[in-house]
Parts: sequence; C-alpha cells; structure tokens
Amino acid sequence: MTATTEPTYGAPGDGTSGELILDASGVVMRFGGLVAVGGVDLQVHQGEIVGLIGPNGAGKTTFFNCLTGMYRPTEGTVRFEGQVLPPKPGKVVRAGMARTFQNIRLFGNMTALENVMVGRYCRTSSGALTSILRGPKFRREEEETRARAQQLLEFVGLGRQAAHLARNMSYGDQRRLEIARALATDPKLLLLDEPTAGMNPLETQQAMELIFKIRDQGLAVVVIEHDMRFIFNLCDRVLCLVQGKTLIEGTPEQVQSDPRVIEAYIGTGDGTEDDEEMDEIVREDEADLRRDDETGTDPREQRP
Ligand SMILES: Nc1ncnc2c1ncn2[C@@H]1O[C@H](COP(=O)(O)OP(=O)(O)OP(=O)(O)O)[C@@H](O)[C@H]1O
Ligand SMILES: [Mg+2]
Repeated sequence: MTATTEPTYGAPGDGTSGELILDASGVVMRFGGLVAVGGVDLQVHQGEIVGLIGPNGAGKTTFFNCLTGMYRPTEGTVRFEGQVLPPKPGKVVRAGMARTFQNIRLFGNMTALENVMVGRYCRTSSGALTSILRGPKFRREEEETRARAQQLLEFVGLGRQAAHLARNMSYGDQRRLEIARALATDPKLLLLDEPTAGMNPLETQQAMELIFKIRDQGLAVVVIEHDMRFIFNLCDRVLCLVQGKTLIEGTPEQVQSDPRVIEAYIGTGDGTEDDEEMDEIVREDEADLRRDDETGTDPREQRP
C-alpha cells in the first residue's frame, strides 16, 4: 500500500481556526483526601495540537482518565462537540475521542494487524448472530476492517510488521501501534499519554512527524509528554499542570519562558540558565529511556 491510499479523517486542519470540539470545564478528581485534579479547564479545537505538561504526579493522566470516561470526575463537565459525555469509555470512543496509554496496553499475543483490527470493531455493525454465523455481511466487514487496519499500519510506518506479534515489537513500534489502534476508531480527537516514552531520538523525531501528519488530516491532538523539546516544537498551545492545577496555559514560547515552569520541574525557582537546565533534564531523560529500552523495561512502571 502506498502513501496515496492513506486514510483521511476529515478536513485538513491549520492548527488554529477549527471548531471547538472538546470543552472540559472545572474538572476535579479526588481520591479520598487527595485532590489529583483540582479544577482544570481545557478547550481543544479541530486541527490543534495541545501539550499537557507537568511534573510527576501533577494529575495529567488522571485528567485524561476524566476526559475519556475512565473516571467520573468528582466535579466539572466534559463536553465533546457540545454534548456532555457519559463516563463510559466505550461511548466516549464512539463519540470520537481515542487515546493511548502511558503504560502500553496492547494484546501481546496478537499480531500488529489484529491489534489495530480490534480498535476498528467499535465502528463495525455486525451483531453477535452475524458474527457467529459468519455470513456474507460479516465477511465483507471483516475484509474492510482488515484493509483499513493495514492502511493504518502503513500510515504509522508499521506496514511491514503487520504479522509481527505485538509483544515482539520494539518499544517505539509498540507505541506507534497503539496510535494506529486508536486511529482505527475514527477519532476526531486523539489523546496521547507520553507517546515518546522509551523512544530513541530518531523515533521521537518520527513520532513528531506522525503527529503532525495526524493533525494535517484534521484531527485534534492532546499530548502528555515530559520531553520539553518535543512538546515545544510540536504544540500550538501548552498547558502546564502542577499539583492538579493549571500553572500556565499559552503558546510554547510563553510557557517555555515562564520561570514558574522551570521551578515546578526542578524546584530552583531562580529562573536563570533555563535553557541549560532544561537541556540537562532532556539529556538525562533520553539517557534513562535509552537504558530502559535496551533492558526492555517500561521506565514508567518502575516509578514509586
Ligand atoms: N486511582 C488512583 N487512586 C488514588 N490516587 C491516584 C489514582 N490515580 C492517580 N492517583 C494519584 O493522583 C496524583 C496524580 O497522578 P497522575 O498519574 O495523574 O499524575 P501524572 O501527572 O500523570 O504523573 P506522571 O508524569 O508520573 O505520569 C498522584 O498523586 C497519584 O498518586
Ligand atoms: Mg501520567
């Protein structure tokens, strides 16, 4: 399959002028006495790439879980295309919001193609009876699903690995496979939780190009990442969470130059030599991730 057969997801976006698709307002998530998310607002427009940053434990993943129906927020509302979403992941996916996970969640014993096909089933119409009888409608849908899944593997750069078992794929390829599976649900909004964790610098660059390509298909993307260079080069807008609250939201330039962001990450607060300090963090992060990649472990799972 060639690039000319790449799937399209909607009108091309320009990163600025699309319609509002996600409107999260006053989202609070408490776990007992712990306020993991303390009243966060986020608006996302079609064709936009929004970065969500913040130190470990800031509430980024919990906020994603509130947006995608995994958690029912303690307070606040999440509207998608004007509708309040029910806190049910399946319904959220069918409404047009898909995600990937900080700790990769693939079916390890299934092939790459099958993993993407699973994502597609939320859009197929064969009922239980048709599936059991495996009639013509089922077979036709199955073929369409397979073709679409292959197309998506090509799109993310995994076309030649369709038959590989997910568990045998490199860490970076598994992350791309998760993106393909999320795209198989035909989302309008894609939420990526640390999509470059475990990737080497080349894979990180390829991931950035892939996200631009997804945006150019008209999707909106919200990305959680700790790699600041990646975030500031990729995003139209960045929101920094600290202890469950929005510290600052603005353009990459505004966020990058705000000394409070540096302080939140490294706790110095003097705001000097920001670039060197940030570069040092990025270098250490990359070295850690390369080491973990070599040993085949997920660095995020080892966190206390
Ligand atoms: N299910 C849960 N029950 C209780 N506390 C939780 C739960 N999920 C998250 N937390 C707590 O909520 C806070 C925010 O966690 P969260 O995972 O959202 O942070 P994060 O910003 O994604 O961090 P990281 O960058 O390390 O992934 C943390 O203090 C975490 O321990
Ligand atoms: Mg997280």
